[in-house]
Amino acid sequence: MNNGPIGVYDSGIGGLSVWRELRRALPGESLLYLGDGKNCPYGSRPAGEIRRLADESVQAMLDRGCKLIVVACNTATAAAIDFLRAKYSSLPVVGLEPAVKPACLTTRSGVVGVLATERSLDGDLFRRTAAEYGSGIEIIAAAGRGFVELVENNLENTPEAEECVRAAMSGMIERGADRIVLGCTHYPFLLPAIRRVIGDRDIEVIDSSAAVARHTGHLLDKYGLRAGEGHVPSYEFMTFADESYCELLRLKAFAAGEP
Ligand code: DGL
Repeated sequence: MNNGPIGVYDSGIGGLSVWRELRRALPGESLLYLGDGKNCPYGSRPAGEIRRLADESVQAMLDRGCKLIVVACNTATAAAIDFLRAKYSSLPVVGLEPAVKPACLTTRSGVVGVLATERSLDGDLFRRTAAEYGSGIEIIAAAGRGFVELVENNLENTPEAEECVRAAMSGMIERGADRIVLGCTHYPFLLPAIRRVIGDRDIEVIDSSAAVARHTGHLLDKYGLRAGEGHVPSYEFMTFADESYCELLRLKAFAAGEP
């Protein structure tokens, strides 16, 4: 039993899409969200730099008493998860990766689209998963150029957002993709624009956040880390940017998180 918080980390606002699922699936647990903010976006930074930023973030969350870390960022997972698990070997660290497996297992058209950042798409993790589950399936990957900036600047519901989403998705839609994987935790914030671009086509949009929240629950049980009965959960936010960014995280979390 451990009443410390679960640390949830992203380059910025995106990981709140995972925070929302964690809060829903694990209502007895305290959550400490770290949205870097200062160094966002991570998507086209060199892997070594992302590892350093992820390391500093994990350290900051451990200093605040976190018992388990969810790296709620596909890009940081791709660049740093092996490093973090080796360095913090007694700490359970959960990573995020594009939900290529369920998409490949359920596609009927045999064409799967994957949207993610440049760094996630050129990482070994994505290559391995695509090779493992994508045999006989056409996987069309595209970087969501500009997506993260739109979400960070609260522009996800603008015509500009829809144009940006259309530009990234048109190739996969034209090829007949019937599953589109959101491989970046910022992208679920663009779902209204994504749905408008999909229109009435029979395409399922898949992201990993609910599965990650379930997996986190299993790890809490496995390591005996569940909060005690009667623990009153707290929801805290921190950033390497300024106080106004922290306020933005709080506002976005609760706007998105209310059931
Ligand atoms: N939210 C992140 C991800 O899941 C990173 C976005 C970025 O900073 O480029 O990949």
